[in-house]
Amino acid sequence: MPSTFSFSRSISVANSFTAPLHALRDKVILITGAGDGIGKEIALSYAKHGAICILLGRTVSKLEAVYDEIIESGGQEPAIVPLDLNGATPQNYSDMGSTIIDQFKQLDGLVLNASVLGMLCPFAEIKPNEWQEAMQVNVNANAYLIQGLLPALKKSPSASVIFTTSSVGRQGRKFWGAYSVSKFATEGMMEVLADEFQAEAIRFNCINPGATRTDMRAKAYPAEDKSQLKTPEEIMPTYLYLMCSESQSVTGSVFDCQPK
Ligand SMILES: NC(=O)c1ccc[n+]([C@@H]2O[C@H](COP(=O)([O-])OP(=O)(O)OC[C@H]3O[C@@H](n4cnc5c(N)ncnc54)[C@H](OP(=O)(O)O)[C@@H]3O)[C@@H](O)[C@H]2O)c1
Repeated sequence: MPSTFSFSRSISVANSFTAPLHALRDKVILITGAGDGIGKEIALSYAKHGAICILLGRTVSKLEAVYDEIIESGGQEPAIVPLDLNGATPQNYSDMGSTIIDQFKQLDGLVLNASVLGMLCPFAEIKPNEWQEAMQVNVNANAYLIQGLLPALKKSPSASVIFTTSSVGRQGRKFWGAYSVSKFATEGMMEVLADEFQAEAIRFNCINPGATRTDMRAKAYPAEDKSQLKTPEEIMPTYLYLMCSESQSVTGSVFDCQPK
């Protein structure tokens, strides 16, 4: 069970971590936003290390492509959960938790990766529907998802929950409006849960991927030279570290994949 409790912002060995090939053998891990960008790479990487991945996302064709890639590379058969986090209800998440217990007995890992960027604009111009969507997908869905999946996480001898933050979740930035506020809430949720569960076998941490070559980054910075950005594959050591037994005693921390 987690013993170190720091609420620290870690610049750590996690970024150069190398996981043994079968480090995640038979671990059942759910990844949100698993069809594209960083979430897709997390699923491929965990499957490569032996995990049974539950791929949650809203575009079925993208999830099926990740499923095929995992099977073709010899990974364990994943499960697909098509779900729009903007419309899902707490009941959906609680049903999902029961199904996971029925099918897999327990949940060993949860990566809360899916997010929407929304419009980058002056605060006064944020449309109510844009604000609502960012809060629903980036914050509320994660809270209800954790509530629904806690019974399955508690059945694991050592579960890891990874939230996804951003540098605008620790220092507000003009024009990043709802997205920035949602990432402050994300870090707060992680700290509340880490404190609440510090005597139990579930650890809660955040990862800040840093500038990474994905569609979201391209939307935020359309003019930049993408070749200068890290690829999702290059930031996987931190995601592997927090899911492997080497991080068993780590909870309440924020990990920067690309510290300044
Ligand atoms: N890339 C960066 O530079 C960077 C930097 C800091 C933090 N982050 C964080 O890293 C995480 C991953 O970002 P990314 O760059 O990989 O983003 P991305 O390329 O836009 O991928 C986001 C994923 O989330 C899914 N998603 C979005 N809305 C959803 C919804 N309503 N229901 C279900 N799934 C939904 C998307 O599904 P569809 O493909 O079906 O739309 C997609 O698979 C995010 O939390 C982001 O805030 C990224």
